[in-house]
Amino acid sequence: MIQPYTETAAWLRQRLPEVPKVAMILGTGLNAIAERGETIMEIPYGDIPGFASSTAPSHKGNLVLSELDGQKVLFLQGRFHFYEGHPMSAVVFPTRVLACLGVKTLIVTNASGSLKEALGPGSIVMLEDHINHMGTNPLIGENDEGLGERFPSMNHPYDPEYRERCFAIANEQNIPLHSGVYLAVTGPSLETRAECAAFAGWGADLVGMSTVPEVIVARHAGMKVLAFSVVTNHSNLFHDKAHSQEEIRANADRASAHLINLITRFLKSLD
Ligand code: HPA
Repeated sequence: MIQPYTETAAWLRQRLPEVPKVAMILGTGLNAIAERGETIMEIPYGDIPGFASSTAPSHKGNLVLSELDGQKVLFLQGRFHFYEGHPMSAVVFPTRVLACLGVKTLIVTNASGSLKEALGPGSIVMLEDHINHMGTNPLIGENDEGLGERFPSMNHPYDPEYRERCFAIANEQNIPLHSGVYLAVTGPSLETRAECAAFAGWGADLVGMSTVPEVIVARHAGMKVLAFSVVTNHSNLFHDKAHSQEEIRANADRASAHLINLITRFLKSLD
């Protein structure tokens, strides 16, 4: 059976002037990087067969082919979250399309809450590992052998060599870059204090509502993955306030210039 993501990849191949080796999924408040580059082609998600439509705040829904300092990148501006009510297959559909298109490297960004006092709002954290606490797995169901094996390894989901390269760039550019373990929940309710304490005890540094499904699917398909999280708030382990969406967006914006500089230089290093 031809899978719908294979058909969508064929549809895109007919329209895109070229398919770059690198794609990026942009999370909350991090759309500016797609706008920094020179847009070659932009396709609204609504026009792409098989794509759901995004309902999350501050998420655009566009596929953008762009040139960033001489490097072509395919941006997914906006993602589909499990908490929006999309089935897991829809959440990871765009990632599977990228795999079918032949994209080799996936960079994922997100916003998260911090479980560590030292990682304050505005911190940029490169993921070193993750904990899937979403209660499901995007690979459940018949395995598509064309994409990858039934039981893919999740040893080093975040490419160690790419991570080392990013630390070297951050060092050279004076970009404060941290490393941490990201735990994914379904949301949309935020975590209780007891949940935060439990997650911190498991070894998580950050908590968020995305990324892990896309990373599992990308690794299943053999893509190299790098992921960055922007801390938008301390979890309630450290204070007693409710978080506003405005606060979350403002903190994501604060880190965005550093993150754009880091990612642009990383892309250049891939030559
Ligand atoms: N929890 C879960 N997801 C988040 C948070 C949080 O505190 N902040 C931004 N995304």
